[in-house]
Amino acid sequence: SFWKEVGGIRERETEAERLLQIRRVVVVPGDADENEWVKEDLARQAADELNKLLPGRGIVAVAGGTTVAQMAGVVRLFPQADQITVVPARGALGENVELEANTVAAELASHAGASYRLLYLPDMIEEDVRRNIERDPGIAEVLELIAKTDVLVHGIGVAAEMSRRRGLNENVTHILQEHQAVSEVFGYYFNRAGELVYRMSTVGMQMENVHMLPSVLAIAGGKSKAEAIVSYIRNRANYVLVTDEAAISEVLSLL
Ligand code: F6P
Repeated sequence: SFWKEVGGIRERETEAERLLQIRRVVVVPGDADENEWVKEDLARQAADELNKLLPGRGIVAVAGGTTVAQMAGVVRLFPQADQITVVPARGALGENVELEANTVAAELASHAGASYRLLYLPDMIEEDVRRNIERDPGIAEVLELIAKTDVLVHGIGVAAEMSRRRGLNENVTHILQEHQAVSEVFGYYFNRAGELVYRMSTVGMQMENVHMLPSVLAIAGGKSKAEAIVSYIRNRANYVLVTDEAAISEVLSLL
């Protein structure tokens, strides 16, 4: 659009795609840390991008958090809504109910006119319990849908903030500090070099499978998230990033 040309946003999108080595970068004007309307723009832009990535028929998996929740609220009817099923990407991770992946999935599906399936599980489950849970037929059915995800949608968080928000115990907080975690994505924590330093154990989407998905939509804005974005998203060729001007300027200065 006109405004994108004026602000040189288009150049920054292209530059960021090249330097981050990802499929596409879409930037909205402003700084989500400073203005609520920027978060709204981010949500609308992300909803548009999701529409472009939709398969004719298939599965959309969503993570939780405020940014993805906001997108879910502004999504319009999907063109072939009856062919799309929305699922949470993973089991609960200690978010408040209104920010949980389940809630976001149901909200997205209701706005999009799509069907949905949810996962009812406690947060953070022990490995042996997890293996048993995965055998439950009702849960196994949803896990099979998650395994066939066509588009995954998630936010990117600042590690320290996410561990606080999820009330992680002192042990884990210590590990995260020791390993200098800077970013978090649905329960996985990464350091500045993009190395995985800690994972929360739960069912559903596992990070090692994310690179095999047809498309992933990451939504994260605000200058404060720049370091987290760079840490997580570099060299993820199937990614579309929707972000804002303040974040992308800072991202480019870090690269
Ligand atoms: O867990 C879901 C998630 O999308 C994470 O990937 C991310 O760290 C977090 O939520 C972001 O939350 P917010 O959008 O509220 O900053």
